[in-house]
Amino acid sequence: MSNTEALKTRRSKAVANGVATRGIYAARAENAELWDADGKRFIDFAAGIAVNNTGHRHPKVMVAVALQAEQFTHTCFHVAPYEGYIALAERLNAATPGDFEKKTMMVTTGAEAVENAVKMARAYTGRSGIIAFSGAFHGRTLMGMALCGKVNPYKKAFGAMPPEILHAPFPNEFHGVTVEQSLSILDNMFKSSIDPERVAAMIIEPVQGEGGFNVAQPEFLRALRKLCDDHGILLIADEVQTGIARTGKMFAIEHADVAADLVVMAKGLAGGFPLSAVTGRAEVVDAAPVGGIGGTYAGNPLAVAAANAVLDVIDEEDLCARATEIGDQIKARLDTVADRQGMDAIGDVRGLGAMVAFELVTDRDSNNPDPALTQAIVAEAEARGLIILLCGTRANAVRLLPPLTTPQAHLDEALDILESSIEAAVNAVSIAAE
Ligand SMILES: Cc1ncc(COP(=O)(O)O)c(C=O)c1O
Repeated sequence: MSNTEALKTRRSKAVANGVATRGIYAARAENAELWDADGKRFIDFAAGIAVNNTGHRHPKVMVAVALQAEQFTHTCFHVAPYEGYIALAERLNAATPGDFEKKTMMVTTGAEAVENAVKMARAYTGRSGIIAFSGAFHGRTLMGMALCGKVNPYKKAFGAMPPEILHAPFPNEFHGVTVEQSLSILDNMFKSSIDPERVAAMIIEPVQGEGGFNVAQPEFLRALRKLCDDHGILLIADEVQTGIARTGKMFAIEHADVAADLVVMAKGLAGGFPLSAVTGRAEVVDAAPVGGIGGTYAGNPLAVAAANAVLDVIDEEDLCARATEIGDQIKARLDTVADRQGMDAIGDVRGLGAMVAFELVTDRDSNNPDPALTQAIVAEAEARGLIILLCGTRANAVRLLPPLTTPQAHLDEALDILESSIEAAVNAVSIAAE
């Protein structure tokens, strides 16, 4: 029995079924490469789901963490605060868009940061309503799942959701929802479902992650900003997946030239260590009463040291520019494949920077989803040594999230594997249909 088979057997006996797992058991990883428990090598275009933007074990991040570990690993910021947290807060206040005074608080996961942003918005406005969008993903805590715009699996089986959480349609022209339609439904919601004066915040991913890498049009984000300003509603940008250079800017909302009142970030922030943050208008962040936000492990010193190193690396290695370059190369390759005869199954190629997805359909006329082909492509790629992920509300999109430090040779190799995996999966479907 292989090591992987043995681990699969132990995993299924010992670990909760509800925790979804792939079949690749990690043994070690370096930059864009990962080796499994049997020594098989992969190029990792999942990057721990958009976490390892600076690659696995970036040398500068590892040194920063090792140095911090020699000083202390935990004091609890509430008990004995430390300089690294303050320095990181200063840097995030400066890095997030918006020419106003900002403050930051740190927690550990994306969902926790979302929770805290909602708490701040409610405390500041004295209102309780929150508007999120269809297809959204904001985490698996009680508020996080309530904000998700997808029932199965995130809300199914988990009982009553908190009240006054509403969902407006995320504009997605490929799925037939225009910006105008989305704005008109929002307007209608204010007439039929909730008084805008009861709404504390709108929360949006500038590019939906789990929902299928749907890019919010800049004009939509600007219209939301205006709508929020008109009604005294706060705008929260959930940049957990899009942030930290992933889309070619530090934060994706910068592409629309919009400043959110609160920015939620996690994943890429600490290069593989668990850390999340909420940065925003000082008066909003400060609306939470002393002791009302934070946590025992919130802003852990090792993760904070990693994050300060990640920000240095992004600067020194110009990773925003590299994200754009990587994304352009991936899109160009996918467009070439999609243009080939017999490749009608690729219905759409989209994304922003190094956050690229392609959607698989039965044919381009109907745009009906083809989740079986999507899974087949992911499985072919895995067999050939490339880790890629599924996404999309219809489970028919493949998403590519390479580390922004991926060497050109590994990027070329990964794109060759991707192309041959698509061809093999599409050919298998054609042969089965004959
Ligand atoms: C946009 C977005 N928000 C929130 C979350 C939740 O983050 P976490 O899994 O760290 O709780 C995720 C995770 O994928 C995400 O993509």
